[in-house]
Amino acid sequence: MTQPAPSPPLLDLASPAFLREPYSTYDRLRVAEPVHRLPWGFIVLSRHDDITFALKDKRFGKTFAERMELRNGPEVMNEPVFRSMGKWMMWVNPPDHTRLRGLMTKAFGARRVEDMRPRIQKIVDDAIDRMLPNGGADLIADFSFTLPIGVICDMLGIPLADSHMFIAAVQNTAKLMDPVPLSRAEIDEANDHFNLMAEYFERLFEQRRKDPGDDLTSALIAASEEGDAKLSKEELTANIIQLFTAGHETSINLIGNGLLALHQYPDQLKLLRDDPSLLENAVEELLRYDSPVQAAGRDANADVEINGVPIAKGEAIVCLLGAGNRDPEAHTDPDRLDITRQNIRHLSFGGGSRYCIGAQLARIEAEVAFATLLKRMPDLQIDNLDNPDWRLTFVIRSLNTLPARWSSAN
Ligand code: HEM
Repeated sequence: MTQPAPSPPLLDLASPAFLREPYSTYDRLRVAEPVHRLPWGFIVLSRHDDITFALKDKRFGKTFAERMELRNGPEVMNEPVFRSMGKWMMWVNPPDHTRLRGLMTKAFGARRVEDMRPRIQKIVDDAIDRMLPNGGADLIADFSFTLPIGVICDMLGIPLADSHMFIAAVQNTAKLMDPVPLSRAEIDEANDHFNLMAEYFERLFEQRRKDPGDDLTSALIAASEEGDAKLSKEELTANIIQLFTAGHETSINLIGNGLLALHQYPDQLKLLRDDPSLLENAVEELLRYDSPVQAAGRDANADVEINGVPIAKGEAIVCLLGAGNRDPEAHTDPDRLDITRQNIRHLSFGGGSRYCIGAQLARIEAEVAFATLLKRMPDLQIDNLDNPDWRLTFVIRSLNTLPARWSSAN
């Protein structure tokens, strides 16, 4: 007698079809099993309300080491790259989290970030000047890539000429974030990237100690040496590296995913062209529609119940931010891009005490990028709207390339 074929898993995080188009899977999950257990123990949340609850409730924290060991074996925290990542603000708990966040928040204050707008405009204009004569370009490599790295290097007082090392490392880190096991070769590659960056920062810290500048590196070095909120040398290196990972890939993809979505909805693109005052709201809707960060992890530090499902102390959960954003209970007609949508409650910057520290910076980068492209390249066309070149990673949702053409330009 033939056995019935096993039914496919509700969620396969490594499936290329899922990685290209996760939203139909999210819809099925939300209905069939909104609190879903993956075979290797993670619990996946897909409803807006459940995710909001988990992001805000103090009974959920972070256990980076345990989570990595679960995924990659008991020795993984001896690897230099993981030891350092374990000191990133986004992975530690209070009181360390509160201390680090207090130090970092000063650099990301609304006023300070707004003051960066002219610099952001300059980076965007320079990229467009370089692309214009060619009549076509890859908007990821030639445009959106150049912006966040330029801004972070500026903030840290790092010459842009040195950024190639961080770019390579950051691209590698996207893989480390996914909740799937890594191979030995992947871990070795990540260690190599980390060691290069750590050596670079060792030299930079030495320089800035002798000759401080008006930059975040100098401010953090000063903070590391005085006051109550001291930073260790490892914390300093780790948290600067964290900014490249947290602020670069994410912002590139807000611009990349956003440009793709706008061109897939020509009516919305026209609306924005005709009424630039919609830009701020459009950025929020683009964040909701195709979030650059699809998931945030938490670990239960007490027994908790979510949506009637008991979660035991020590269990790890994955909040599917992209699924929450498309929950019909939170947003009407959620699969439609509507840049005039009101009361957008997207989860793309997370929530609670760990809400993204760079959210305002990312919003300004995207606003300047979209506004300037619309103005300077009025007939920009994307070549592969029906078959976008998605990179097959899960937590970071990103395009490999976004080929585009134009004929007239300003
Ligand atoms: C569109 C762009 C961005 C998106 C979608 C995004 C998304 C997120 C999300 C979802 C979290 C919460 C993670 C969690 O709860 O576990 C987060 C945290 C964080 N983000 Fe962003 N981010 C973006 C841009 C930036 C930028 C530009 C920076 C800095 C240059 C940055 C720095 C951080 C940091 C340091 C944290 C950790 C906050 C904490 O743990 O207290 N992000 N981001």
